Amino acid sequence: MLKSLFKTPVSVFAKSNFVLPDELYPEERQYVQNASSGRRSEFATGRHCARMALQNLGIPWAPIQRRSNGAPEWPNGFIGSISHCENFCVSAVTTTDRALSIGIDVEINSVLPACEAELICTEQEIYFLKSQSGRSFHEWVNLSFSAKESFFKCYFPLTELFFTFHDARVSFSSDESGHSGDFSITVHTIGGPKIRESTFLGRWHIDSERVYTGVTCMPVETHLMSLKA
Ligand SMILES: CC(C)(COP(=O)(O)OP(=O)(O)OC[C@H]1O[C@@H](n2cnc3c(N)ncnc32)[C@H](O)[C@@H]1OP(=O)(O)O)[C@@H](O)C(=O)NCCC(=O)NCCS
Repeated sequence: MLKSLFKTPVSVFAKSNFVLPDELYPEERQYVQNASSGRRSEFATGRHCARMALQNLGIPWAPIQRRSNGAPEWPNGFIGSISHCENFCVSAVTTTDRALSIGIDVEINSVLPACEAELICTEQEIYFLKSQSGRSFHEWVNLSFSAKESFFKCYFPLTELFFTFHDARVSFSSDESGHSGDFSITVHTIGGPKIRESTFLGRWHIDSERVYTGVTCMPVETHLMSLKA
């Protein structure tokens, strides 16, 4: 199911039992040396999943450094993404000829306080999500949050442009099952004069415990490259 979150073949590795921070390479430990034990364990599990996903593509285990912006530093020729939430961690990785960037996100499927919806979604999105059938309002809000996070992880490493939750607009459609579907996400306000709007496609999935989203930026989506100029 996790592989189907992407528009291109990816290697995915997920783990529900977190590994100990001892598994980190010394080069990686520096990033979390002052963090809580929970965060160290979460970081180590993310690295474990990423190494396993890379190993499936023939890459031997090695440290995965962290860029100053928080994104993982993938081996040459590879891109990927990591997400963790309570008792679950996942990494998806692919080759740079298959995608320019990918983003994955997983969140607990819990009921959020009403004010959270307003932080995550614009007024128009809330109006749309309330009229959307198939799932409850809080599930659509969770999916919106996750979609915007996975989009951020896909978009930021390519552009280094920040945006807020209200700068991104997401719109969902459902498969027949009602447990998964497509979404499109548009950033309609970004700094800089060149690009005002950019739309990406993603996939979502939901079960009783979690929501999952993935966004792919395919190599043909070269309009993105102009953002770097
Ligand atoms: C980075 C961010 C997206 C992480 O999302 P999250 O749901 O809090 O946490 P997740 O567990 O799903 O993801 C964390 C992982 O994202 C990755 N990540 C962190 N910063 C990143 C960046 N700038 N670009 C890509 N990936 C990044 C890391 O691998 C990190 O795990 P690690 O530190 O253990 O390696 C979020 O914390 C954040 O800073 N967002 C910026 C503002 C925002 O949300 N914008 C979206 C508006 S639409």
